[in-house]
Amino acid sequence: MDLLSECKASEVFEGQVVVYKHMHAYIDSMCLKWCLELNIADIIHKHGQPITLHDLVSTLQVPPSKISGVHRLMRHLAHNGFFDIIRFHDNNNEEEKEAYALTVASKLLVKGTQHSLAPMTKGALDPTVSGAYHFLGKWTFEDNLTLFDVSLGTNLWEFFSKNPSRLSFFNESMISDSQMLKLGLKDHGAVFEGLESIVDVGGGNGTISKIINAMFPELKCIVFDLPHVVENLSGSNNNLSFVGGDMFHSIPHADAILLKIVECTSRRRTEAACLDIGVSATILMELQYGDGDGAAVTRLAKRYARHGLDGGGDVGARMSLRQVGDEACDGSQCATCPSSLQEFVL
Ligand SMILES: C[S@@+](CC[C@H](N)C(=O)[O-])C[C@H]1O[C@@H](n2cnc3c(N)ncnc32)[C@H](O)[C@@H]1O
Repeated sequence: MDLLSECKASEVFEGQVVVYKHMHAYIDSMCLKWCLELNIADIIHKHGQPITLHDLVSTLQVPPSKISGVHRLMRHLAHNGFFDIIRFHDNNNEEEKEAYALTVASKLLVKGTQHSLAPMTKGALDPTVSGAYHFLGKWTFEDNLTLFDVSLGTNLWEFFSKNPSRLSFFNESMISDSQMLKLGLKDHGAVFEGLESIVDVGGGNGTISKIINAMFPELKCIVFDLPHVVENLSGSNNNLSFVGGDMFHSIPHADAILLKIVECTSRRRTEAACLDIGVSATILMELQYGDGDGAAVTRLAKRYARHGLDGGGDVGARMSLRQVGDEACDGSQCATCPSSLQEFVL
């Protein structure tokens, strides 16, 4: 049976392009990882000006047989928005040369800066995390197991408790993500108005709470996470504390819960539990991607929501309290947002 007998050859090839494009989409991620492994953003930053391929490969000491590989990498990353290609002539030379300049995206890959996303990128592209996606098919048929349960044979948090070096690696990546939110918090502190205390549920090592505590010293922040995550952590002042426990059993009381990168299922269960204990507000911090057409648009949309104050409100019917970015996410865009596919890993 030829399913395509009624299609023109050009339509079949268009379909093939769609298949091939997505079949190879992981190459974008791998090139980003490659770029990080070669420290290319750091090298250009240190160079102080756009760098030519010649200078880049000599700094890297790449063997001649691999120079064309690095050239292709740079052109691919430039195409994906990580570098600008600057064309110039030097010393009245007829021949046009090109050099690679940092863009905002690659400036975020420079290590050791205030807003470096290098640890986050490294963490997300680590085979422990990215490799889990090879198990999606198997995961579909494993009732009640998360993707990590299937790929690692254990809960991710259990895995970390037995592999402290992986936990610190993961924490590093979360810290870098939290540092970014300083930018959003600076202009939108009003979300904390009327609150005397918040509990940062699944707050990790408390980076975002520390930032909030420094910006709003009057607000009491409790960082709540699994016991082994917070066991050696303590606050630097009376308004910052760390509490260990299981969010599905009980959560310290506060005026609001803060949920940052805590996936949907935990979020719903936590919010439901909070209604039971009379917590009135949820502050969600999320990064949402562009609008579904695959365009390289990244939208920062943080949604702050407050649910029914009577303690019996429907969690699904939250009303918007504050909104930063173009638009709040109401879940309707989940199908087009890559982060919706990260929801079931944990
Ligand atoms: C993706 S991390 C987010 C960390 C932090 N909110 C951030 O954005 O940097 C999820 C956190 O939830 C914590 N967690 C997972 N299960 C938990 C549970 N049952 N009770 C409390 N915390 C939990 C993990 O230890 C981890 O630190």
